[in-house]
Amino acid sequence: MSTWANLGLQDSASPLMEQLIFFHDHALLILVMITILVGYLMFMLFFNSYINRFLLHGQLIEMIWTILPAIILLFIALPPLRLLYLLDEINEPSVTLKSIGHQWYWSYEYSDFNNIEFDSYMIPTNELSNDGFRLLDVDNRVVLPMNSQIRILVTAADVIHSWTIPALGVKVDGTPGRLNQTNFFINRPGLFYGQCSEICGANHSFMPIVIESVPVNYFIKWITNNMNS
Ligand code: CUA
Repeated sequence: MSTWANLGLQDSASPLMEQLIFFHDHALLILVMITILVGYLMFMLFFNSYINRFLLHGQLIEMIWTILPAIILLFIALPPLRLLYLLDEINEPSVTLKSIGHQWYWSYEYSDFNNIEFDSYMIPTNELSNDGFRLLDVDNRVVLPMNSQIRILVTAADVIHSWTIPALGVKVDGTPGRLNQTNFFINRPGLFYGQCSEICGANHSFMPIVIESVPVNYFIKWITNNMNS
């Protein structure tokens, strides 16, 4: 999760988020290089007299500063294209989770397992335990197995919501009347926090998401316990 003074991206917990961070760093590096070059050129303009008796045209420099930016743009445009298709790829999911956005809470369905379903509300500040995170913890967490392909189906019951987990690189809108799909692979155990990110009404800020990533055998225990009850 994000903590104090974290201005960058959160540490990744999935291969796709790792790739997204790599692209972010790549694009930022190009941005810094361009900014330095343009900044230097603009600074040097102060010392330019704007007078040159023999300068009428410059075919070569015009060629260079037309083609070079086009090539640089290709280096920024092609990697995310690959990422875009990678993010959309569904690779034989072992678990499917359905999350439904409501004003203002999430509800979940494990359709593969006897249709386990439950609501997930934020814990209000006055009911928070000492080790809880304010505005971020929920009463019922989403338990998911680590090291497995997981498919998420997102929809909404009233207005548009967005199911967003930064550490997993997941951000899918829940739209009434539509079923959106995404997938991810959690590569470590832990708690991963997220929040709704479509402005969905008065309590938009208070419908967080908590994913509890656990080893597969622990997940099987959890799912059998819930199927029996
Ligand atoms: Cu749901 Cu914002």
